[in-house]
Amino acid sequence: MSTRSVTSHRILDGKAVAARLRAELAGEVAAMRQRGTHPTVAVLLVGDDPASQVYVRNKQRACGEVGIGFRLQRLPTAATETDVLAHIRELNADRTVHGILVQLPLPRGIREAACIQAVAPEKDVDGFHPLNVGLAAQGEDAFQPCTPLGVMRLLAETGIPVAGRHAVVVGRGAVGRPLADLLVRAHATVTICHSKTRDLPTLTRQADLLFACAGVPRLIRADMVQPGAVVVDVGIHRLTDGSLCGDVDFEALRGVAGCITPVPGGVGPMTVAMLLANTVRAALRAG
Ligand code: GUN
Repeated sequence: MSTRSVTSHRILDGKAVAARLRAELAGEVAAMRQRGTHPTVAVLLVGDDPASQVYVRNKQRACGEVGIGFRLQRLPTAATETDVLAHIRELNADRTVHGILVQLPLPRGIREAACIQAVAPEKDVDGFHPLNVGLAAQGEDAFQPCTPLGVMRLLAETGIPVAGRHAVVVGRGAVGRPLADLLVRAHATVTICHSKTRDLPTLTRQADLLFACAGVPRLIRADMVQPGAVVVDVGIHRLTDGSLCGDVDFEALRGVAGCITPVPGGVGPMTVAMLLANTVRAALRAG
């Protein structure tokens, strides 16, 4: 872990940290393959959501780079829940597959909860299965979701302390809730804000560490941030002109925040790196 101290107006380069982690994982995977285990993840992609196709391609490239096996199973938009569940069960039974990821969102009519619950908990590299969510809540060993893990790892690797600091999480969804839990476990004092929060700016201005995971483009403006705060942007949105932005107004904040993650190149690559780490872990556990 890096011991660099926090300097002002620093860009938290998730892309560079993730590249380092991938290099470490590549060594681990090579050793496992020599011992006869080839860590492999299967991704089930249903339909043709454009963002999902980009994310899956990024995961495939990252797996290739570290030597993790990648099996892509594509199903058409017209696939039924029964079709998807049958594929998941097949992957559950396949001993050469260590991790299973059902790319979300799923087409209308297919229940995400049913698909998540169908994945064998020991192959749930997304950390979404209720058993893993429950074990994590009890502080037990469990797969945890890749984005919150990636955020925590980025803070650790860039030498940003968490214990004793006030963390404000904006968003209570699939990222915000588990992230808040990890922050509490890391001894932060945590405030969770959401769409019904009254006077959001007053709360966000109290943050030493501010996490934007509301899914609203450029929700966090410069006047909502304490000068010097650490700002982590979990959002990613494609604007009508084709450019990408996050939940944070990056250009306005970069002169105010002490440290800030860019979009793209911040949390996204860390999420993918944690998927690789979870897959290696699943393969190690499977023996
Ligand atoms: N869609 C967007 N992010 C994710 C993720 O982390 N896991 C899955 N399965 N689908 C996603």
